[in-house]
Amino acid sequence: MKSYKIALIPGDGIGGPVTEAAWEVLGRAARGAGFSLEGTTFPWSCDFYERTGTMMPADGIETLRGFDAILLGAVGWPARVPDAVSLHGLLLPIRKAFVQYANIRPHRLLPGVEGPLRAGAFDILCIRENTEGEYSGAGGRVHNGTDDEVAVETSIFTRKGVERILRFGFEEARRRRGRLASVTKSNAQKHSMVFWDEVTARLAADYPDVTVTNYHIDAMAARMVMAPESLDVVVASNLFGDILTDLGAAIQGGLGFAASANINPDRTAPSMFEPVHGSAPDIAHLGIANPIAAIWSGAMMLEHLGEPAAAAAVMAAIEAATARGIGTEPGKHRTTEITAAVLAALA
Ligand code: NAD
Ligand code: IPM
Ligand code: MN
Repeated sequence: MKSYKIALIPGDGIGGPVTEAAWEVLGRAARGAGFSLEGTTFPWSCDFYERTGTMMPADGIETLRGFDAILLGAVGWPARVPDAVSLHGLLLPIRKAFVQYANIRPHRLLPGVEGPLRAGAFDILCIRENTEGEYSGAGGRVHNGTDDEVAVETSIFTRKGVERILRFGFEEARRRRGRLASVTKSNAQKHSMVFWDEVTARLAADYPDVTVTNYHIDAMAARMVMAPESLDVVVASNLFGDILTDLGAAIQGGLGFAASANINPDRTAPSMFEPVHGSAPDIAHLGIANPIAAIWSGAMMLEHLGEPAAAAAVMAAIEAATARGIGTEPGKHRTTEITAAVLAALA
């Protein structure tokens, strides 16, 4: 029987329960489709940091490299460990080290979920650059306690990085409805974003079948609320994509529905699958986290592993549960009830 090695990193807060829910559903789907998932759990988290002084061991990246994929819950517990320490110690280095340059985040309404817009159907695929840009970590700070303190955060955009994410977006647009929205702020950011627009224009010549529109990030934010049905594939830089995908989550009914895949398209290292949301400290011990985003991310993992039938079965089970009104409103059902409804639909 075919078997895949999966690294599980539940992380912090609701990361644990939603990863557990996803893992149960994925295991059931795998059995149904005639393959198996072999999971190894890594307790890397803010707890781990408090015990060891690091978010993951020094050889953590090398350990993960041997897996077929990584399923992650959420990282961060800012009351105990500063976010800049926890995220730069675990999540962000994995994305970068494994060249997971395409962060794919689908936004659409599941059956039975109305969403705050009450606007009817939309189907947006946000593709976020995931390894450079505003998250490069370049910069510095003068700490001298005077009014002259300065902090610099430098965005780095390389031709290689910008070209590959836009090309990825063009290919997705070609496979979908043929429309690509490229998001910048080139009216204000005259170096990086003008460069991005130039690369977009040059690549567009290779994709005459794709209609390209350039949007500024501010206008795109408004468009996602006012006319989400007008959008197909949306490509944005690391930070802009981060913000737009919480907005995307909101219009699809909340963070509990927003899935994501950190993909290494060249398959030179494992890809990582995780919900868009974080550890949700405000609800972490209440048992009411919506596991659908994590389960959907798991379906994206099955698709990536080359198991499209099992992925489709998981998506159909999620949709069957939400169509019955299970998990469609925050707090209406418990994590375990939503998971049970998805499992029942899968059976
Ligand atoms: P968050 O996404 O954790 O929570 C934002 C709001 O959405 C909260 O009110 C929360 O209760 C709600 N929410 C999130 N997921 C939900 C779910 N599945 N079901 C129901 N409600 C849900 O964002 P935050 O509060 O800004 O961040 C908390 C911590 O998580 C921070 O440390 C942050 O840095 C980290 N974070 C990690 C990731 C990640 O690991 N990928 C992503 C985002 C934030
Ligand atoms: C996300 C998260 C992370 C990001 C944070 C926790 C660093 O918000 O995955 O969307 O900004 O990439
Ligand atoms: Mn985010």
